[in-house]
Order: sequence, then structure tokens, then C-alpha cells
Amino acid sequence: MGKFGVVVTIDGPAASGKSSVSREIARKHGWKWVSTGAFYRGLAYVALKKNIDLEDTKALVALCNSDEWSIELTQEKTEVLFQGVDVTEQINHEDVGSFASRISHHQEVRKSLLVAQRNCALGQKGLVAEGRDCGTVVFPDAPIKVYLTANSENRALRRALEQGSDLLEVQSAQKIRDQQDTTRKAAPLQVPENALVVDTTELDLYGVVAAVDKHIQQKLATI
Ligand code: DC
Repeated sequence: MGKFGVVVTIDGPAASGKSSVSREIARKHGWKWVSTGAFYRGLAYVALKKNIDLEDTKALVALCNSDEWSIELTQEKTEVLFQGVDVTEQINHEDVGSFASRISHHQEVRKSLLVAQRNCALGQKGLVAEGRDCGTVVFPDAPIKVYLTANSENRALRRALEQGSDLLEVQSAQKIRDQQDTTRKAAPLQVPENALVVDTTELDLYGVVAAVDKHIQQKLATI
């Protein structure tokens, strides 16, 4: 199987359930999983901490390669460490998601994060990679691709409940984020070719995992 094992990509808009589903699928198969969004969130968080202008591509690219922050994959989460301190909880707030979306339109920034994202699959027997462009750009040759979606009210409600935030505020932030992520020139969110599309609006986590895993089992049988 070469230096990359099986790669499953799971793309979709904010709060469509990508992380929970990826974690469960990875656990089930004994694979690793990575949230590529954590790279953008981590970078945005560190840029804000260091007072870097979110439109300053050059400074952001330099920060991508800085050893002040790093990413660690664990079974539970994609951890972001800033100056050795775990800031994963901080980066998961909706406002950091909005800043992450803002910096993610810089092509040079995306290019700088790409190698580290791809390297997550190195030496693994399996990797579930979730984000916006995992099936289209990060792992275009992945044999198994999934696209999760859900209606916007449902997605906002999930995130608001998860974070104890105001529903209307989350809804309006996600609307802007969806618009930015789907219309940017560089690697916009889109359904990858041959992806299984799952609408998670009416499903619980168990239902989504079952649908995704059925697809994975069918694909694995053909590899
Ligand atoms: O999946 P998430 O909410 O953690 O992602 C945060 C932001 O990062 C998202 O709004 C856009 C950006 N992102 C991206 O551009 N490409 C990815 N593969 C993942 C995230």
C-alpha cells in the first residue's frame, strides 16, 4: 500500500459533524484522524496572539513555518500547541473559526500548510482527514471520499449547544463563514467527485457513522 495507507476524506461545511464522525470512524478501524481546520484555526489564533495582520500573506506564511506552534494528532482531537501550551480548547471557539476562514483564502497560506497536512498520512495504516478541501486538494487520490452536509439552522444549533453560545450569533457567523469558504478562489468547499454525500440533518451520530462506514466497507472491498 506504499507509504500512505488508506485515506478517507470527509469534507463539509461548519458544524456538519465532520470531527465527531471522523473520530468514530478512526476509532472503529484503528486509524488516525486529523482535522485540517485545526491548522487554519491554529494559525489564526497564533497570528492574533502575535498581532499579525490577517491580510499580511508574507507574515502568515512565515508563521506557518514557525516552530512556535505545532499540531499533534491524538485519538480524541487534533491538538494545537502554542509555545508548548495546549490551546485546542481556545481555537475551537466560533470566533477563531471565523478568523480561520478569513485567512484560508490566501493561496500561499494554503500551500504552506499542505505538506504538513499530507504528512499526517505518512506511515499510517489509515487516516481519516476532515476539512473543506481534503478530497479535492489535500488527498485528491484518496480512494474513499465523503461529503457531509446539514441544513444551516441545524448546524448552528449544534454548535451553539456545544459551546453554550447565542444561537443567532452562531448562525450569522456560520453564514458568513459558509459564504467565504464556498466562494473563495483557492480550494473552495465543494463536493469531491465520487464522494458519498450524507445529509446529517435528520440523523444522529450513530446513523451518520453507520452510513459512512457502510460506504467505507464497500470501497475497502474493492481496493
Ligand atoms: O472545519 P473548521 O470549522 O475547523 O474550519 C475552520 C476554517 O478553516 C473554515 O471555515 C475554513 C478553513 N478550512 C479550510 O479552508 N480548509 C480546510 N481543509 C479546513 C478548514
